[in-house]
Amino acid sequence: MESANTDAAAITSTDQTSTTTATVTGLLADIAGTGTDPLRGGYTRPVYSTAELDLRAWFMDHASKRGLTVETDHNGAIWAWWDIPGGDRSNSLVTGSHLDSVPGGGPFDGPLGVASALVSVDILKARNTTPTRPLAVVVFPEEEGSRFGVACLGSRLMTGAIDPDKARNLRDPDGNTFADVARVNGLDPRYVGRDEQLLGQIGAFVELHVEQGRGLIDLDQPIAIASSILGHGRWRLSIRGQGNHAGTTLMVDRHDPVVAASRTVVSIRDTARNQPHARATVGRLQPVPGGTNVIASRVDFWLDVRHPDDAVTASLVEAIQTQAQLIAAEEGCSVELTEESFSPTVHFDPGLQKQLQRALPDAPLLDTGAGHDAGVLSPFVPTAMVFVRNPSGVSHSPEEHVVDEDAETGAQTLADALAALMN
Ligand code: GLV
Ligand code: MN
Ligand code: MN
Repeated sequence: MESANTDAAAITSTDQTSTTTATVTGLLADIAGTGTDPLRGGYTRPVYSTAELDLRAWFMDHASKRGLTVETDHNGAIWAWWDIPGGDRSNSLVTGSHLDSVPGGGPFDGPLGVASALVSVDILKARNTTPTRPLAVVVFPEEEGSRFGVACLGSRLMTGAIDPDKARNLRDPDGNTFADVARVNGLDPRYVGRDEQLLGQIGAFVELHVEQGRGLIDLDQPIAIASSILGHGRWRLSIRGQGNHAGTTLMVDRHDPVVAASRTVVSIRDTARNQPHARATVGRLQPVPGGTNVIASRVDFWLDVRHPDDAVTASLVEAIQTQAQLIAAEEGCSVELTEESFSPTVHFDPGLQKQLQRALPDAPLLDTGAGHDAGVLSPFVPTAMVFVRNPSGVSHSPEEHVVDEDAETGAQTLADALAALMN
């Protein structure tokens, strides 16, 4: 493959600097009307949708106003650099998150980390901080995998955790390939993939994120430092039967994949219930062709399985596949299971974690069942996460919440952590 041409990256920069401190709630209020979903409620902001592109523009505008040098890399991640004199970017300190969402998601999953990163730059500037190492705010694309099916696609591409050919051929629900969508959005799909140079420049990555469960509610604390992420993966199941007429096909003559899929979903629930600490979810089912008076010929559905022990995750998926085969056979159908992505269990860098604990002595350690770009980066660079309390304990849903005071505490905490890592 040809080497990447840096001129291909969209680059904007400005000399303006600002020492005004914005608020996280103020920044999030700016984008509260972007990507609202009247059908599902909450926000639907798939990568490279109009909503996500508007959020990217919003981020680039705010980063430029802060005097940061804004660049889009070959995988579509946006980097906003606070460079040091001389422009050397080695051993950079990187913070940030994502702006894409699940369908009907909450306002904080992703944008909280991005807005907090911008505010932490303001706070550091207001404290007259002179960076001793370059600081970058990054926005990763397709963290949720809600358009192309693979979670954390941007960070997987950057680290080489996904084969670029596989990525180029991923398709969205309308059949568009990632390569085509990337091209339309100013990327050269030939150059997506591991970015040795950028990866080599990251000295540490700290992602702030809304907590997606009840951990901080139970601890009665506003902020935590992440200890680990449960291993998790996604698999597609396709059950094939016989498409037919709802009125003329006797019940005994049917090979109905919807029935087989429904029974399989219940067996998935039961399999996970019998395994301590396991989580298994089917959140998306598509009968084909999908008509009220049509017995489907096929059902595609997607399985998400998580467990702290990757070997247990593998055995759960195997058990689920065996059950699905039995059920499909009983219904006169066949089944195929394909892995779409897997993220092993992550234990965050102990050295960086200790540095954060020294900087944030009141913050407890907390693990999480949610996946993050920080998890994908962690085998390659020292990585840490900071969680902000979510009083609803609910995420990937419009009910996800953060109170204003905690949001601002989060940004102060992130600024404190970044300042400590500059010493
Ligand atoms: C992302 O939020 C995930 O955990 O799937
Ligand atoms: Mn997220
Ligand atoms: Mn999410």
